[in-house]
Amino acid sequence: MSKVHVMDHPLITHKLSIIRDKNTGPKEFRELVNEIATLMAYEVTRDLPLEEVEIETPLRKDKFKMISGKKIGIVPILRAGLGMLDGILKLMPAARVGHIGLYRDPETLEAVEYYCKLPTDIEERELLVIDPMLATGNTALEAIKFIKDRNPKNIKLMVLIAAPEGVEKIQKAHPDIDIWVGALDEKLNDHAYIVPGLGDAGDRLFGTK
Ligand code: URA
Repeated sequence: MSKVHVMDHPLITHKLSIIRDKNTGPKEFRELVNEIATLMAYEVTRDLPLEEVEIETPLRKDKFKMISGKKIGIVPILRAGLGMLDGILKLMPAARVGHIGLYRDPETLEAVEYYCKLPTDIEERELLVIDPMLATGNTALEAIKFIKDRNPKNIKLMVLIAAPEGVEKIQKAHPDIDIWVGALDEKLNDHAYIVPGLGDAGDRLFGTK
């Protein structure tokens, strides 16, 4: 079974509370989503392997440690996932970025991939799939299925706010994928919004309604 890491850092919790506030406008919302994404990416990358390297300081040569050539890819799920991207690239500016977009066919109710452009060397990469909200889990579940078809080395999922229903769905369908969650909320309402949540993350990021 995959692990669920629920963040307990006060900065993450504090910033999440501000974006939950319905009076927080798009400018501040966008900035904070990126800041939270940076802080969460710090936690998600805790297990990056280090290797010994020789470096000459102004005083002498010595052995030090640096991240060992790990190839990382970040994959925002369109469109709200884009809101977290810059915050993560701040920490990992050399990461490659893929994009995936899905819509639900109104007749078959099947998820249809309308856009998918992933790094060409995906088989050598560890991917971090990002989306602010994990509600029913349907979109993330389908996105991960499509991404897995391209055989990445590993996938991690990072979301700002999750509902227990969504977490459970991903864990059941993809027991190999660990999930990082900024906050685990109470439930979904009848319209599949997370409660208490923050409303529609895409609309709040982009100022649409
Ligand atoms: N997507 C959102 O943006 N918000 C929710 O509460 C659920 C899904």
